[in-house]
Amino acid sequence: MRVDSDRLWRSLAELGEVGAYDDEATGLRGVCRLALTDADAAGRRLVRRWFEEVGLAVRVDRIGNTYGRRAGSDADAGVVMSGSHIDSVPTGGRFDGALGVLGALEVVRTLADAGTVTRRPIEIAFFTDEEGARFGTDMLGSATACGRLSVEQAWALRDRDGSTVRGELERIGFLGEAPERLTPPHAYVELHIEQGPILEAAGMDAGIVTGVQAISWFELTIVGRAAHAGTTPMELRRDAGLAAARINVRMHEMAASGRYGSGMRVTMGRIDASPNRVNIVPRNVVCTVDLRNPDDDAMAAAESDLERYYRELERDMPGIRIEARQTARTASVRFAPAVQSVIEARMQAHGVRYQRILSGAGHDAQELAAICPAGMIFVPGKHDGISHNPREFSTQEACALGTQLLLETLLDLSR
Ligand code: HGY
Ligand code: MN
Ligand code: MN
Repeated sequence: MRVDSDRLWRSLAELGEVGAYDDEATGLRGVCRLALTDADAAGRRLVRRWFEEVGLAVRVDRIGNTYGRRAGSDADAGVVMSGSHIDSVPTGGRFDGALGVLGALEVVRTLADAGTVTRRPIEIAFFTDEEGARFGTDMLGSATACGRLSVEQAWALRDRDGSTVRGELERIGFLGEAPERLTPPHAYVELHIEQGPILEAAGMDAGIVTGVQAISWFELTIVGRAAHAGTTPMELRRDAGLAAARINVRMHEMAASGRYGSGMRVTMGRIDASPNRVNIVPRNVVCTVDLRNPDDDAMAAAESDLERYYRELERDMPGIRIEARQTARTASVRFAPAVQSVIEARMQAHGVRYQRILSGAGHDAQELAAICPAGMIFVPGKHDGISHNPREFSTQEACALGTQLLLETLLDLSR
């Protein structure tokens, strides 16, 4: 059985046009399907229709996760599941998340064309708000489905305009009734682009993902005092912008120091100053801290050292107050060796060049790993695997190979 490469590519292109925009920075068509916006809703309806057209029993749960189940010959057997997300960051590409959902759909389309009935039911899914770019915490839908978050916590999250997750689910018609807590599947496998340079640089065709590094997000509210840029002597200022800049520099120094391992990565992705005018000392800054580390102990040390630095800064800059609110926190995750072995056997059978690789990005699979044996297949990306940028690109051949490997892995697991 072979997946249909052209059909997969057409579906990626069609979904990629939903929420598409002309990106000035790159001159390319980017994708902006922020979670639970009208663009995300349009993408959800399109993919749900595709699930229905291939005969799946579709259900939407209370956090908007959408599942399509294909019956197996043994209705009581645990399901084999595959999925990802279709929400994107505001400057997204057409592969992040979409390849995992549409690759799983292509697997089902191929099984349907062949009239093959697997022993175990096959279930494919897209999870709500994997990115966390709008409501502030990542893997929202899959974390709720696997019990790390309660649906009440998830529903109550607000975006910058004050809209709640629950209100937005209702507005776009995806506040489902199915229970959000998943019955643990027999196994879960997710196809995803690597979103980094490793596989391409090593000349690999695919990657077996060994796990996901720890993730820690904070939203900082730094309060100072607005003052005249010209008349206020430097020693009388309470400059929230300076405090934010010093925190940004300090966390980059921490990453470069090696004290937290060689793999630590830091990002201050959001920096909102107010009143944000040329001749006023910033009164306050809301900014974010994104820490990544493959080692849990090093991550914990970095978090407490950064917290200590905030207190030091408040002493060093009288009048400045720094409040840190943790918005996401996941420990490092290891994927099931048994699932990795099934994937590896299929890669060897195809004679593809592959390697094991730790995921730098978070994925829904990290949440499923809490309730069942989980694994991931990575597809290499062009341009150093750049992602969260419209330049994100993987070739049709690479996507088709990843999907073929997903088909065969799911078939092996469904026996
Ligand atoms: O932030 C991440 O790692 C993922 O893209 N949500
Ligand atoms: Mn993703
Ligand atoms: Mn992403």
